[in-house]
Amino acid sequence: MSEHISVKQDGAVMRLGFNRPEKRNAITAEMYGALADGMTRAEQDPATRVVLFESTGDIFTAGNDIADFMAGNSSPSDSHDLPPVVRFLHALATAEKPLVAAVQGGAVGVGVTMLFHCDLVFAAENATFHMPFVDLGLVPEAASSLLIPMHIGHQRAAELLISGKKISAARAYELGFVNKCVPGGELASLAEGEATIIAEKAPMAVRLTKKLMKGDRTPVLERMKEEGVHFSSQLQSAEFREAGMAFMQKRKPDFSKLG
Ligand code: COA
Repeated sequence: MSEHISVKQDGAVMRLGFNRPEKRNAITAEMYGALADGMTRAEQDPATRVVLFESTGDIFTAGNDIADFMAGNSSPSDSHDLPPVVRFLHALATAEKPLVAAVQGGAVGVGVTMLFHCDLVFAAENATFHMPFVDLGLVPEAASSLLIPMHIGHQRAAELLISGKKISAARAYELGFVNKCVPGGELASLAEGEATIIAEKAPMAVRLTKKLMKGDRTPVLERMKEEGVHFSSQLQSAEFREAGMAFMQKRKPDFSKLG
């Protein structure tokens, strides 16, 4: 449970919402745990047929809580064997039930990489997508280093993951990872409507179709592990220290004297 993740059962749709608007929905370990728990429940409960990710406030999520990273809390354990962030990423990669996302305002870091595990992504016209991993001295996660080049091609992925360009909803639609962009006021009803359409379909046929489309998930899980090794070592690096301090001090990082 986390007050910062809302969990609502809406008929056969489980709605998981980022709800920490004062920190731009930045995700803490506790929030990852609540997301993972919600997704596990959704998988186990026959009454839930679709998971819908949404958010409160004017942003989807600012990604991982940078203060948590700085404090070394990026992977604290809870009562489970794996750290909450890892449980969440595994739940995304292995979900059998369809995942739908409604993105409004900014989606940063894992707020974008998680979308490559979703089956349908809807965006408000004001949505932006930004993966500043390299700018933080970090590397991509959630198997995005595998999935994004695979979906949109290496060069366009490099623009997002190496250059760290922030893109608009219209560009994300063009690149093919957003199904539809609508005015902000229409996003919730569009996403709910589309989630409900799937929830009313033959559940086994839906799950089998998703399984066939996703194929073997082993390479995705292996890439997550490989990314995790580099991510953890970069968290200890002078590059991340400089970027983290720069974020806290609201200035541009200076990597000119590093390695
Ligand atoms: N981790 C921790 N705190 C965060 C955060 C994050 N990822 N993103 C925002 N916050 C906090 C800010 O520190 C600030 O806290 P304060 O009010 O105590 O000072 C508060 O949320 C509001 O953020 P602010 O930057 O003033 O909001 P904004 O609307 O001007 O900008 C963003 C929103 C998302 C563009 C900006 O906050 C941002 O760039 N965040 C960092 C994103 C990021 O790099 N994420 C990591 C990806 S791996």
